[in-house]
Amino acid sequence: MRIVKSVQSLRSSIKKYKDQNKTIGFVPTMGALHEGHLALIRKSRRENDIVIISVFVNPKQFGPKEDFNSYSRPEKKDILLAKNEKVDIIFYPSEKEMYPTGFLTSINVEGITDVLCGASRPGHFQGVTTVVGKLINIVTPDVMYLGQKDAQQTIVLKRMTADLNFPVTVKICPTVREADGLAMSSRNRHLTARQRETATVLYKSLKNAKKRILAGERSSARIIRSMRAEIEKNSPGKIDYIACVNADSLTPIKQLKGKVTITLAVKFGRTRLIDNTIFRI
Ligand code: PAJ
Repeated sequence: MRIVKSVQSLRSSIKKYKDQNKTIGFVPTMGALHEGHLALIRKSRRENDIVIISVFVNPKQFGPKEDFNSYSRPEKKDILLAKNEKVDIIFYPSEKEMYPTGFLTSINVEGITDVLCGASRPGHFQGVTTVVGKLINIVTPDVMYLGQKDAQQTIVLKRMTADLNFPVTVKICPTVREADGLAMSSRNRHLTARQRETATVLYKSLKNAKKRILAGERSSARIIRSMRAEIEKNSPGKIDYIACVNADSLTPIKQLKGKVTITLAVKFGRTRLIDNTIFRI
């Protein structure tokens, strides 16, 4: 495995792979790798000749009061984990390499970035689309792998690649969970013991909601009300949002039908957790 820090040197390796007609799978990450990331890397490994991952904690997607500075950066451990998964190249750019002096451009996907997580994190998705747009142009992958855990991010990035004709296939992989159901996240390590224990209510509330819907409930207002009650009763979490939305457009649905995503964000102290479930009725 090679650790590459400059765009220029990554480009020259990629040119060699392309000259040999090798397919490239790409997994963008912010590091602090866990089993959720590793599942994406493994799928990419199975499906491509070459696997490239990026590790870059992207300042543009963090708000001024968010956790950019305290975001985990276990560089040595990440390199070891990537090596174990037979990653070919880990792209580890500096902030200067990604955003050199004079950088002025951004990518903005309209509308769907202003709701849900976008409503409480203004500018977040513009940071995500700008960095992922750059990474796709640098890596030129055949396939990019994303996790369902960040449901809105998958929809925004699919929209961006379609609208801007990026020649890449986007594949979405299922959410990987801890044994008790909590979605794996680099942010889980910041939870206190009580927060960690009670955070399992997020997945439980999603599962219960899905069960009720599959048994015939069609009112999203009733579903959201019961999820809210369950979370408030069983945890100290402060609910940011709970929403039942169309899985492709992210528009809220009143009467549940079609491809539905139930999605939520809940703050445990300063740690903001998200989770979702996606299904067809
Ligand atoms: P990060 O949070 O590091 O996540 C990198 C990828 O791993 C994303 O596609 C995310 O959805 C996926 N992922 C995280 N936890 C997962 C889990 N429990 N199960 C399955 N997949 C999971 O998302 C980002 O970084 C950034 O926004 C990025 C796309 C890299 C742009 O900076």
